[in-house]
Amino acid sequence: MTRHAIAVLGSSGQLARALVREASARGVTAAAGGRPDVEITDYRSVASYLYETQPRVVINAAAYTAVDKAESEPDEAFRINAEAPARLAVMCAAAGVPLIHVSTDYVFDGQQARAYLEDDAMHPLSAYGASKAAGEQAVRAGCPQHLILRTSWIYGRDGQNFLRTMLRLANERDIISVVNDQHGAPTSADDLASAILTIAENIENAGSDAAWGTYHATSAGETTWHGFASEIFRHAAAAGLRTPTLVAIPSSEFPTAALRPSNSRLDNGKLTRTFGIALPHWTSGVADTMAHLAPSRI
Ligand SMILES: NC(=O)c1ccc[n+]([C@@H]2O[C@H](COP(=O)([O-])OP(=O)(O)OC[C@H]3O[C@@H](n4cnc5c(N)ncnc54)[C@H](OP(=O)(O)O)[C@@H]3O)[C@@H](O)[C@H]2O)c1
Repeated sequence: MTRHAIAVLGSSGQLARALVREASARGVTAAAGGRPDVEITDYRSVASYLYETQPRVVINAAAYTAVDKAESEPDEAFRINAEAPARLAVMCAAAGVPLIHVSTDYVFDGQQARAYLEDDAMHPLSAYGASKAAGEQAVRAGCPQHLILRTSWIYGRDGQNFLRTMLRLANERDIISVVNDQHGAPTSADDLASAILTIAENIENAGSDAAWGTYHATSAGETTWHGFASEIFRHAAAAGLRTPTLVAIPSSEFPTAALRPSNSRLDNGKLTRTFGIALPHWTSGVADTMAHLAPSRI
């Protein structure tokens, strides 16, 4: 039993992996647990993991993230995104350990004209969004010492994400059509991980007086999925990689099982005012991620 500064749940996910890398770079002791060893829907599995790792802060980066598939298996999405965080929150509260829980822009319906604020009413359009909204409410109810961080459009060096999908498709297709009527901030897993570790440090230092609550944490700036793809291919072309013709289409021409908000913009002002943190611009995250991807992995 070794005491760790942080314990991250969902170890194989793109954000969890970025958190572990960033913790190692900062000399922060981090434990990371995931399936099959740590199953967040299994109370005993999580309890024994927390007992073994004795974290000072728990970061829940585990989630059911298959947005379209969740429409056909909402029970599974709710089990992982709502019921498991509910139990985790109660466990953290009982142990007196703060919980940082990651949530999503998809708790909103995107109908608002401005960027969303933390207190705006949640109104998810999808089963995934509804399961995450229920998870947020459960964390608020179960663990007073919580931080809920809503983010958007995560991508990184690992796992399945839009950036890696675009690079793969660029090798397979001459023309790629991408929607240009959903607006948001592509958020680098590395930049988000760095922000989360700074927040974890801050709440450790502040103790029970930390600024608990809900925050928006996305890369700065905004674009559309089409704009994101265009930036990815700009870097790919500069690296001498094959790039396709990119075509802008409306969401109506790319039907998906789950509806997505047309406005996913999250206002990060509260994060900056409270913790002094502003994530870098999304284009700088794309540049860094592209630089880290060895050509063999693209
Ligand atoms: N990806 C996005 O664009 C995005 C946008 C906004 C918010 N978020 C939120 O950000 C957080 C991190 O997302 P991400 O992109 O890093 O997700 P990810 O790459 O899909 O990783 C999710 C992780 O959760 C694990 N997991 C799923 N069910 C589990 C269970 N029952 N027990 C234990 N682990 C389980 C997965 O393990 P397996 O490998 O075993 O499945 C995986 O390691 C999530 O809360 C997500 O909702 C994501």
